Amino acid sequence: MTTDLSDHPPFRYPDYRSTIKRSPDMKMIEIIRTLTEETGPGPIVADLSSEDADLTTNAGTGAAAIGERIIVTGKVLDTYGGPLPKTLIEIWQANASGRYTHWRETEFPAPLDPNFLGAGQCLTDDEGIYRFTTIKPGPYPWGNHANAWRPSHIHLSLLGPRVRSRLVTQMYFEGDPLLALDPIFNAVPEHSRSRMVARYDHQVTVPNWALGWRWDIVLEG
Ligand SMILES: [Fe+2]
Repeated sequence: MTTDLSDHPPFRYPDYRSTIKRSPDMKMIEIIRTLTEETGPGPIVADLSSEDADLTTNAGTGAAAIGERIIVTGKVLDTYGGPLPKTLIEIWQANASGRYTHWRETEFPAPLDPNFLGAGQCLTDDEGIYRFTTIKPGPYPWGNHANAWRPSHIHLSLLGPRVRSRLVTQMYFEGDPLLALDPIFNAVPEHSRSRMVARYDHQVTVPNWALGWRWDIVLEG
């Protein structure tokens, strides 16, 4: 069985410059799927608490992070639309100013927020639902081309119930004018780009607290 990559970006996409060096020069080897790849114990993690899914407070300083508080929620689904419970979702992102908490992040002179780590994790529940509280990330410049700015985005890593149910991707926000200019977003085939874009959902919005965004994720498996 061959992996269908028609919904995925090519490994080499010259407009996204670093793919030129990162992409393989030789043909990929298809790994034969055995029982090991089709089954698995699922992610082995220590207990996660709801605090791990709240990036506005998980820095542990006792003070809240600065920025537009948002809720991001949705379902993790398998290829056939069924829910995937106990899927580990880890996210990382820039702060409200577009700055990452990382020692190599030195070029963008935007402020750090001591109350924001920019990383969190959660497990999906029995219905495959995940939910994070976080700060809406700001756009940031990058050196890909002249005046290049990344749209607001959240990075995600998913580990599902099987060894091969694995996805690393990015979530974007509906209506962001930078999407059309972003080579990383545009590297994904046009027919599947909208799958990476979260929609504003007033049902998710909590009165007097936070705006809600909904985004479902299909994880092969
Ligand atoms: Fe990023």
